[in-house]
Amino acid sequence: MAGMSVLVVGGGGREHALCLGLARSPSVDEIHCAPGNAGTAEIATNHAFSDVSDLIHLAFQLQVDFVVAGPEAPLCEGLADQLAKMDIPCFGPVAALARLEGSKLHAKQVMKQNGVPTADFHVLGKDSDIDAALDDFSGNPWVVKRDVLAGGKGVVVTEDRSEAKQFIKESIGSDGQVLLEAFLPGEEASMLVVMDGSGYVCLPASQDHKREFEGDKGRNTGGMGAYAPAPVYTDEVKAKTIERIVEPMHKDLSSRRVPYRGVLYVGLMIDEHGDPYVVEFNVRFGDPECQITIPLIASDLGEMLSASSRDQLASCEVQFHDKHAMTVVLAAENYPGSVEKGRSISNVPDSSPDSWVNHAGTKVENGQLLSNGGRVLSCTGLGGSLQDAADKAYALIEQIDLSGSHYRRDIGHRAL
Ligand code: AMP
Ligand code: GLY
Repeated sequence: MAGMSVLVVGGGGREHALCLGLARSPSVDEIHCAPGNAGTAEIATNHAFSDVSDLIHLAFQLQVDFVVAGPEAPLCEGLADQLAKMDIPCFGPVAALARLEGSKLHAKQVMKQNGVPTADFHVLGKDSDIDAALDDFSGNPWVVKRDVLAGGKGVVVTEDRSEAKQFIKESIGSDGQVLLEAFLPGEEASMLVVMDGSGYVCLPASQDHKREFEGDKGRNTGGMGAYAPAPVYTDEVKAKTIERIVEPMHKDLSSRRVPYRGVLYVGLMIDEHGDPYVVEFNVRFGDPECQITIPLIASDLGEMLSASSRDQLASCEVQFHDKHAMTVVLAAENYPGSVEKGRSISNVPDSSPDSWVNHAGTKVENGQLLSNGGRVLSCTGLGGSLQDAADKAYALIEQIDLSGSHYRRDIGHRAL
């Protein structure tokens, strides 16, 4: 399909990366973004909205050919289901399938049914013997996961038994139940699989850095930087991942009454034998993984996303660049804690074909670029080697002025 019009939902770094990829797509003529940010405003038309039914009206009024969902929340609230009633294809699954991210217990049950390798677990409720469960997984850190969408704050990994117990009790108090998972040792990687009823395409695996400080220390964040491809994801690991995880999940999800249409984010733990286990599923692109995965797609992004929203992926040829990409996040002062918005940002460097600035929490007021969130910008480099990509990303981020901001200087340290 040529000359398509698309609505991208979301307003972070991920959505700017999607808009940049769509702007490069010969198949796409018109891009809308809701709510968008200062970066998307340069290549798309931004629209304010208040809720999912607002988004449906917007998509209908704009007569877009399809919608691309950035974040999980609107999908869990039924964005794709409601768009389907208006005959508008959506890249992003219906609510019943978005539960793979919305409920960790549901995800575990689906994995179990499909024989997908993941950590053993207990479901604990108010009558459970918490001490017995903690004993069961002692000798390693305890992994406690809330069974609700918690915006990255629903998981505690700790060697402190009383901290684990406390979090278990609090979670049971607020949510009714909680998961206690066996600790999986190994190295993490993010694998994104675009899928639909007709087929699937695995995108290059990446690695995200979730902790706030260098050396993977400090608080958990949404992600402070990422790079791809991740060397831990060798051809051997890839073959095992496809056989043990991707094939069975796709077989199941493509045979549902409404097949899974969109991207399944597979959070992997790869152990010392190169055996992959699923740590989590998300029903969307990762942020910041999206910023470094999209630029590695050489073929038409709009065509791939549109095909997946219509169960036509099998007839879509997807190609990749033989390159490396890295993105480094510029975070606001005190992120991942509460941040002050509205600080002025200056000296944002111009982009080139192989290095550019992704906007995340930004807006423009009276011609001045201002911060508007915790993760403000991310600087992305594309190169023939990971070092080359890193040099380009850091050359950009060093130039930017935003008072109190911080970034990690060791993105990619495991691979460099
Ligand atoms: P999740 O939200 O499920 O991805 O968990 C957040 C982070 O906690 C993951 O990125 C891992 O670093 C860590 N984690 C989660 N589950 C486990 C596990 N079973 N074993 C070890 N680390 C885990
Ligand atoms: N960067 C991790 C995530 O998007 O869930």
